[in-house]
Order: sequence, then C-alpha cells, then structure tokens
Amino acid sequence: MIAANPARCLRFLAVLLCMGGVQGVVGNCLAAPALMPQPVSYQPRPGALALTGGVQVEWQGTRSVLLDRAVARFTQRLAMLSARYATPGQPAGLTLRIRCLDADPAMLSIHMEEHYHLETGPEGATLVADGPAGVLRGLSTLLQLVERQESGPVLDAAVIDDSPRFAWRGVMVDVSRHFMSVTALERQLDMMELTRLNVLHLHLSDGQGFRVESRLYPRLQQVAAHGAYYTQRQIHELVAYATDRGIRIVPEFDAPGHSYAMLQAYPQYAAQPVTTPMDPKRVVRAAMDPSNPQTYVFLARLYHEMAGLFPDAYFHVGGDEVRPDEWTGNPHIAAFMKQHGYADAAALQAAFTRRIYSMLAHEGRTMMGWDELIDAPVPASIVIEPWRGSRYTVAAATAGHPVVVSAGYYLDLLLPAADYYRVDPLDPQGNGLPPDQVAQTNVPALNPFTLDPAARMTPELATHVMGAEAPLWTEIVTEEMLDTRLWPRCAALAERFWSPASVRDEASLARRLPVVQSELELSLIHI
Ligand code: ACM
Repeated sequence: MIAANPARCLRFLAVLLCMGGVQGVVGNCLAAPALMPQPVSYQPRPGALALTGGVQVEWQGTRSVLLDRAVARFTQRLAMLSARYATPGQPAGLTLRIRCLDADPAMLSIHMEEHYHLETGPEGATLVADGPAGVLRGLSTLLQLVERQESGPVLDAAVIDDSPRFAWRGVMVDVSRHFMSVTALERQLDMMELTRLNVLHLHLSDGQGFRVESRLYPRLQQVAAHGAYYTQRQIHELVAYATDRGIRIVPEFDAPGHSYAMLQAYPQYAAQPVTTPMDPKRVVRAAMDPSNPQTYVFLARLYHEMAGLFPDAYFHVGGDEVRPDEWTGNPHIAAFMKQHGYADAAALQAAFTRRIYSMLAHEGRTMMGWDELIDAPVPASIVIEPWRGSRYTVAAATAGHPVVVSAGYYLDLLLPAADYYRVDPLDPQGNGLPPDQVAQTNVPALNPFTLDPAARMTPELATHVMGAEAPLWTEIVTEEMLDTRLWPRCAALAERFWSPASVRDEASLARRLPVVQSELELSLIHI
C-alpha cells in the first residue's frame, strides 16, 4: 500500500489524488476533525491557523534525541498532510511549543506517562506532556487537526486533554505462518504511532517457522526458517524503531505446543517422533516433552538468548492448544505423569508452566501466555491473554492474573471494522452493548469468539485488565496483504482501547475511518 521508494511514492500520491482520496477529505467538510482515537476531552476554539509550510519548535522542559526525531517525523508528515513545505528564508507557518515535564523513568513500560494537553489556535500549538510518550501521543493528535479546506490547509483550533483508557493497546502479527519483512513491520509501527497503539506483539515461532537468528541454536534458522528470519541485528533495529515511536515489542516463542518448527530443528525435545515435513497449510499440534530435563535446558538457554534481544518486561510463551494425546500417547510421559501425580495433561502443563515461569523470572521477565495456561492453577503474576472468549477474561481476572484481552479482536476473521469496534475489553458479553440491548441483537453471532452470556465482569475484576490486542494470524495472509488486513480496522480498535468506553458511535466511526485511512497513507509517504 505504501511504497518506500521515492519514485513509487510520488506515483502513489498521484494515484491517490486522482482517485479523490485527498479531495474526498477536502470535500467532506467534517463538523469536527477526524480524530481517531477520540480524545477524552475536545473543545473546539474559534479560528484556525493557515498552514503555510515549516515548523518552528520552542522547547521547554525535557528534550531528548528521541523527541527530536519525533519532531522531525512530525514535520515531514505535516508537510505531506498539508502539501506545504518549508521554503528557505520564509518564517515557519506553525510555531509549536513543546513542554515535556519529565524524562519519565517508566518510559516504554506499562506505566509510561501518555497523558498530554494540547492547545491550538491562530498563535500556533502548545503541547504539554507528563513524559516523552505523552509528547508522541500529542503529536499524533496534532496531525489529525490538519484540515484540507478549499482555501488551503489549516490547523483546527482546539483545546484537547487526553490520556488512554488502557495502558496496553496492541497489535499481534504472526510472522511464523508467513514471514513479514522488517520494512513491512516498520510500516505497521508508523501507523501504530499515528493511532496511539503502543504494543507490537510478534508471534515469532509456531509450527511453520522459527523467525529469529539464534547463535546458540543455529539449526532454528537453518532448518526451521526456510531462509526467512530476522537477524539479531535486524531485531535490534526493529526494537529501536519501535522505541522511537513509544511502542513496546513483546516477543512470543511458543512452548510446549505450536512448536513444530523448533522440534524439526531439535527433535530430541519432542513428545512424539518428528516425521512430517512442515506444511504452511497444516496445523501440526506437536508438543515438547515435559518429562525430559533437557527440554528445560534448551528452553532456558533459548529464552535467555531471546530475552537479550527483546528488552520488554513481558515475554509471551504461547501455551495454547496442546493436544493431550501428544503426552498421554507417549508411554514414558504417561509414566512420568503417574509418578508425579499429574492427573491429566492440564496438570502436567501447569507444572511445565511453573518451570518456564521461574526461568523467565530469572531473566527478569514477566511471563505471558494464552488462556489455556489457566486450565490448571499457575502463579497469579502470569499475564493471561484470553482468546477463546470473554469467560476467560473473567476467569483469569478472578484468579488474580493481569489480563490482555484478544477475544473478539481476531483480525483474520475479516469482519467489518464496526464488529470489532463494538467489542469492549471489559464487556463480559464481549459485544460491547449495554445488557438491555444484548437480547435485541445478533451481534455475538457475528463475532463468535465473544459469545458468553454467563460471564460477569465487576469493577474489581476490571482492574486486572491491562488492555487488549488485535491479533492477525497469517495462515492465508502474505506480506502484500498485511496493510489491508490490519488497516483501517486497527485504527478503530485503537479508539476502542484508548478512548473512554462511552465513545461508541458507529456512524461517527464510519465517517471518520476513510479520512483517517487516507491520512495514514499520506503521512507515511517519504519524499
Ligand atoms: C490461538 O488462537 N490459538 C491463540
């Protein structure tokens, strides 16, 4: 969708203009600017600033290289959105005063300060933020105040005060089933920055491929990657790219299930003989052997190496969809279960989970996994990601776990944006509607992962929910399809995860979504 090559960029822009993408925005004459996510508080002011090209920044408070780069991106994007460029010798059209109150020691953690206050008017723009992340979020909103009017581009005058509803606002991309290049991921990070999403969860290993260079276990890239993997240097660059944009990267390396690629490379850790060649179209449910002490040595060394590449505090280990007969069908593992009193596969998986939990605690990492991890009790500090339904959100929170909800947000289901938008992370019904309206709609049937009339959320349980993620599984998604599978749906979900729960006007979403999509496309063109 968005080309990096300058000639292709210009061609793309020309096509967009001919298609009426930009003119559509001009002609739309929205009563209010197409802000997405909608801020907590927005007050229009009289007047607007004509954008004539160039930005002059006046700094107060904390300034850093990260913020300088953010302003450089902002300036470039503003030029694209307004089609006005700085001309030598002319005064800058926009004076931007930035006051960052603190360097924020919690930057890039779940506790980073994202609040900002923004005032725009004929005199320019003033952005005050509690920390660097707040400046980034405020700059993304400032870009959305640009309006292309018949008489030329203007910056709408407004007073905005804003902070997120949820600290964890993520997108998950499965790069195992189909590999996605670094460029493709960087493009997603740019769009995430512009819509104030702050976690890119990378599903880096599964049955079809292990996607990171390992120096300790090189067969992982030699045998299990089919030539498509990220070098360690590329991972460092990707993490730096995300860091610049106030986005955390959470890696996922699955165990004990969804590990067939790893087991092709190192079959000695498999619960069953590894015989079938990998096939991207087949789901292979091979699992690791939890009775083999060497399995834990392998995972401890591998996770240590991978934790060194991904600085985030959270480390996702999958843990989903382990087929019990992978274990019970192996006489040695069956005897191990009997010897240790593990009544079933869930009890054995809980023991496995506890070992991994200690391993990651040793690395200073918080373990995260899919909701199967709570099929038997495990340490309450493990973050649970419910995907099978809202019942698991309630169950995980009841058991004291922090929760990041993905049930209801599976982008590979290819539902209309509004169907995802309707799902609230805290709604036990999973459809985002007040209880009295639930009976009158067939919405849950449209989004099958969310249907659970029995689940009950309470204010106390809600405090466990750190946020939500939109996963994109890529069995049938290639890199060429990535942008259109994620966007603009992810912009709608950015609003669901950032804005107050009361923001749920689907007609307004429908009006703003094409505008935001065209602005995202324009913003990302580099000339
Ligand atoms: C999952 O979709 N198996 C997490």
